[in-house]
Amino acid sequence: MKSLLVTLGLALAAAIGLGAGYLLWDTPKNWYAANVNKLGPGAENDLIRYGRDLIVDTARHIGVNAENPAMRYAGNDLACQSCHLNAGLQPFAAPFVSTFATFPMLVDNQVLTLHDRINGCMTRSMNGKALPDESREMEALIAYIRFVGKGSPEGVRVAGMGLKPLRTPTEPPDARRGARGYAKFCAECHKDDGQGERKTGSGVGYNIPPLWGEASFNAGAGMAKTAYAAAYIHDNMPYGIHYEEPVLSVQQAWDVAAYIISKPHPPAPPIAAPELQ
Ligand code: HEC
Ligand code: HEC
Repeated sequence: MKSLLVTLGLALAAAIGLGAGYLLWDTPKNWYAANVNKLGPGAENDLIRYGRDLIVDTARHIGVNAENPAMRYAGNDLACQSCHLNAGLQPFAAPFVSTFATFPMLVDNQVLTLHDRINGCMTRSMNGKALPDESREMEALIAYIRFVGKGSPEGVRVAGMGLKPLRTPTEPPDARRGARGYAKFCAECHKDDGQGERKTGSGVGYNIPPLWGEASFNAGAGMAKTAYAAAYIHDNMPYGIHYEEPVLSVQQAWDVAAYIISKPHPPAPPIAAPELQ
């Protein structure tokens, strides 16, 4: 059911994204340029700034090691930005530009609200529990997501939204080949044991996030699906590349994705996450 939902989502996102690309052909506007530094003072803008901070520095605020035990909503120390690169402003790294304009969304004939979608990531990618709808944190995340999409077309997924579906590889994805690709392209940062690098000093969180093990996303996460991980890796890793100039071949990306996913991850949540209820 999840995979159907994901497939549908991916197909829909791709179709709409492409449509928008053509639609906006004549009006070259960079939808990925939102900048909180241009915001003035005020309570509303404070909420937007807090939302961005939650996405960039998630572990400090709501991570499993957050200072305030009552705020430990996530079950790991990842940041939203670990995947939603550049605070949700990186094309094809699941950005947030059209998110506010396209939620609530109909998935499998059920209404999926933005709250539910955020909590889908909280319970799987962040391996934690749902943020209460009325919490300041949920409000702030939504305020920021709304801000980055300000002025973008209603109901449209602009080009660069989601992940770019990756071509089927010539050979079936192979984790053993992937291990070699990992050693060559990834281990330098994510380390041989896949655990990345923690922030130094007293800061919680990572300079480089882990890719498997107890501290990683759980088996129910989008990133735990080979097709998603392969697309993400091909267009975004090694960190710093642009999707127009990938470093890994299509085959290498599928193989490395298979390798990462063949490693242990925390189990998926036992009950259907809010997204499917
Ligand atoms: C381990 C990687 C990972 C982490 C960490 C993560 N997400 Fe996600 N998120 C994804 C993937 C993958 C998708 C699906 C992208 C797609 O549908 O193409 C997604 C989708 C979303 C969407 C839907 C966007 C849209 O317009 O379709 C929202 C909103 C979201 N995440 C919010 C968050 C928030 C908030 C956090 C932090 C609390 C977070 N995510 C942490 C991987 C992650
Ligand atoms: C130059 C260092 C570097 C290299 C090399 C690199 N990464 Fe990353 N990777 C990062 C950083 C940094 C992030 C998180 C970005 C952020 O927090 O802003 C990340 C995030 C990720 C994520 C999403 C977050 C998570 O924890 O799941 C995945 C998946 C990933 N990398 C896989 C790979 C793979 C596979 C390779 C090899 C093809 C690779 N990376 C190479 C630095 C690197």
